[in-house]
Amino acid sequence: MISPQNAVVLVSGANRGIGDHVAAELLRQGWSVSLGMRRPVMPPWAEGHENRVHLMAYDADDSNAERRWVDAALKRFGRIDALVANAGIMIPKTVIEADDEDIDAMMSVNVKAPRRLAKAAWQSLCETGRGRVIILASLSGKRVKSAGAGSYSLSKFAAIALAHGIRQAGFDMGVRATAVCPGFVATDMAAALTERPADLLTQPDDLARIIAMLLSLPNEASVAEFAVNCQLEEFF
Ligand SMILES: NC(=O)c1ccc[n+]([C@@H]2O[C@H](COP(=O)([O-])OP(=O)(O)OC[C@H]3O[C@@H](n4cnc5c(N)ncnc54)[C@H](OP(=O)(O)O)[C@@H]3O)[C@@H](O)[C@H]2O)c1
Repeated sequence: MISPQNAVVLVSGANRGIGDHVAAELLRQGWSVSLGMRRPVMPPWAEGHENRVHLMAYDADDSNAERRWVDAALKRFGRIDALVANAGIMIPKTVIEADDEDIDAMMSVNVKAPRRLAKAAWQSLCETGRGRVIILASLSGKRVKSAGAGSYSLSKFAAIALAHGIRQAGFDMGVRATAVCPGFVATDMAAALTERPADLLTQPDDLARIIAMLLSLPNEASVAEFAVNCQLEEFF
């Protein structure tokens, strides 16, 4: 098991939804957390632990933001052990309805920004000999479930390819990357997409515990993809 004591993780989109729960769980387990948010605010669960919490203004649509974030986190904590690239957007349009701007917007936040984040933190991740990268992909990166999910799936298939690419690029340096692929998770994003009651969806707390577990695994237990679903489908 990898100990979170003295280890540092960057979590994007940490102000609400899955990112908020992941960051809270990792702090609870002993990680130092650097929280990338468009509007940085100290979360209530950080009270009393401010020495292990770093807030950073982070907009995934700004192509210099990742470098600035990594530099600030290194200045604050001196090391980076893990990334959780969580910030994401979903535009519910079919591949026919969507225009280039819609596709570009999802690729920008869901694919290009996580790649830049991994690139910016690469040296630090490799230096630890056990760097970890979690890409919040989706089951929409494994199958195209409906017409309306088609454009989003384009970006999430690419996000899964990104996780595999990072795993391939970093394996010899001890970097392990996992594409985490949930179905519906009870957050604002899912509330806008499904009428299923929130208590029948995967809970963000459970996803947070899964991600903490994935981060704790040793180099010899590499998990390339982790699928989790609240409902029965043919393969997930
Ligand atoms: N919920 C689901 O059912 C589900 C299922 C599979 C995968 N996912 C994936 O899980 C991740 C988190 O989703 P969620 O359900 O927690 O979504 P959410 O509740 O809609 O939260 C999205 C998060 O991403 C941030 N974000 C969006 N655009 C950003 C930008 N340009 N720069 C920085 N941050 C930005 C948001 O910040 P603001 O508050 O500033 O908007 C927010 O923190 C996403 O990648 C999503 O695609 C979600």
